[in-house]
Amino acid sequence: MDNIELKLSTFYILAFILFLFMKPASVSSRDHRQWGDERILTSENNNGDLVTNLPGQPPADFKHYAGYVTVNETNGRALFYWFYESITKPEDKPLVLWLNGGPGCSSVGYGATQEIGPFLVDTNGKGLKFNNYSWNREANMLFLESPVGVGFSYSNTTSDYAQLGDDFTANDAYTFLHNWFLKFPSYRTRTFYIAGESYAGKYVPELAELIQDRNKDPSLHIDLNGILLGNPETSDAEDWLGLVDYAWSHAVISDETYKTIRRNCDFNSSDPWSNRECGQGVDEVLKQYNEIDIYSLYTSVCFAITARSNDQSMQTVMNRSSKMMPRILGGYDPCLDDYATAFYNRPDVQKALHASDGHNLKNWSICNDKIFKGWAQSKPSVIPIYRKLISAGLRIWVYSGDTDGRVPVLSTRYSLSILGLPITKQWRPWYHEKEVSGWYQQYEGLTFATFRGAGHAVPCFKPSNSLAFFSSFLLGESPPSTKYN
Ligand SMILES: *[C@@H]1O[C@H](CO)[C@@H](O)[C@H](O)[C@H]1NC(C)=O
Ligand SMILES: *[C@@H]1O[C@H](CO)[C@@H](O)[C@H](O)[C@H]1NC(C)=O
Ligand SMILES: *[C@@H]1O[C@H](CO)[C@@H](O)[C@H](O)[C@H]1NC(C)=O
Ligand SMILES: *[C@@H]1O[C@H](CO)[C@@H](O)[C@H](O)[C@H]1NC(C)=O
Ligand SMILES: *[C@@H]1O[C@H](CO)[C@@H](O)[C@H](O)[C@H]1NC(C)=O
Ligand SMILES: *[C@@H]1O[C@H](CO)[C@@H](O)[C@H](O)[C@H]1NC(C)=O
Repeated sequence: MDNIELKLSTFYILAFILFLFMKPASVSSRDHRQWGDERILTSENNNGDLVTNLPGQPPADFKHYAGYVTVNETNGRALFYWFYESITKPEDKPLVLWLNGGPGCSSVGYGATQEIGPFLVDTNGKGLKFNNYSWNREANMLFLESPVGVGFSYSNTTSDYAQLGDDFTANDAYTFLHNWFLKFPSYRTRTFYIAGESYAGKYVPELAELIQDRNKDPSLHIDLNGILLGNPETSDAEDWLGLVDYAWSHAVISDETYKTIRRNCDFNSSDPWSNRECGQGVDEVLKQYNEIDIYSLYTSVCFAITARSNDQSMQTVMNRSSKMMPRILGGYDPCLDDYATAFYNRPDVQKALHASDGHNLKNWSICNDKIFKGWAQSKPSVIPIYRKLISAGLRIWVYSGDTDGRVPVLSTRYSLSILGLPITKQWRPWYHEKEVSGWYQQYEGLTFATFRGAGHAVPCFKPSNSLAFFSSFLLGESPPSTKYN
């Protein structure tokens, strides 16, 4: 208990010092003037980023843009984005920023082209196919590769890569937004939401908090209305306990292994693995998960790639001394990762997306292992941020695919229960196409919902249900609670 409080207070002091240190840095007076002064730009300034010639792209009735936004001139840091205007009436629709996690994984490779974007990577690896359930039916969708080192995003200063962590990521993402608005001034005052899954369970509340804090200065105001989180990492101790309980309750591990873990692991401790029995028990969980897809318990794994079917795959991504949860990889079809890699490394694709000139190519990968392994700073829990955002009146929705073993529904329930929020609408099913799509419960300030039979990356498994749910979120209405409507 004392230990935790000490850890927490040390953390807050460090965070405060970092905040003092970062604030003048990331909001330089020059940027400040630019961001605040709408007169500098009276029209859109993004023509160079319009994507006109993307190989293999199906026809589309909406505009989309891709390219770089510089976030730090001194060090030469630039973040890559891909932005899809809404299919209908973009001027009336909100702006939604989507982030994938890892840390180190690409929102273009996962979110945009395997989950919720309009163009999904086709399994023939040659092109893209249209996604009829793209979230840009409901909103203008902005996908950001963050932080530097992820996907096409880069820094010209190598030492930046050694500093990557939660705060660094939030600060650059914040600067990105303001500089992106310079390219797209008509979105400057648009209703805004942030959504994401997995390790973005940390990124999203952290960025929301930063926006909320900086909004005190009217010239920096961003109209943030809420956040949407899918199978989010939230609180390390609860996430671990949920992972173990889920593995046991879904018959992945034995009663004996389960008892060993429950008896020996203190997930709240700063180093649970220093207990040998605990470490061995958790190894056993990961060993069993190596044989199946931890992100989707009941679908088959991709056997085409020998590297991924060998038993080493999970162990090597787990770094005990960094006290990080294992790395997030995979979606519905792990094979798709390789199609995406082939696609985004094509010279003509990179040129069309303004990621390179088509000659000096960027080396794109879906996840960057070095970033994951070297992650320098991670908040152990974002529950305190939830409290802050709830009291600020933001809309917070959390959903969970209930066949994910990585950030299982139990982890999310344990984390949310720490908030101790009063219930405003009791647990009940929600429906899609006359079937129970999952269950939900509403709290004062937060809505929690499950997706029945969906894995870690929910929209891959339940595209139509996800789009309907997203629409409810944007409207601020409960998901459909009757079978026929
Ligand atoms: C650029 O980044 C470096 C290292 O993170 C930082 O020291 C510097 O203050 C930043 N510059 C600006 C203008 O934000
Ligand atoms: C990084 O360096 C390259 C090569 O000098 C330059 O073209 C590019 O503009 C730099 N990026 C940033 C964000 O300054
Ligand atoms: C595409 O989605 C729209 C709206 O969700 C639906 O009305 C239409 O039937 C779908 N088309 C196909 C081919 O699935
Ligand atoms: C971690 O500690 C907090 C605060 O004492 C407690 O509420 C929570 O249940 C603990 N979590 C686990 C997984 O032991
Ligand atoms: C594990 O993390 C520690 C602390 O962050 C780091 O020093 C070490 O290099 C990492 N080990 C590997 C194998 O990546
Ligand atoms: C690109 O990155 C991958 C993974 O980090 C690496 O194996 C490969 O050698 C790199 N290719 C080039 C051309 O740099």
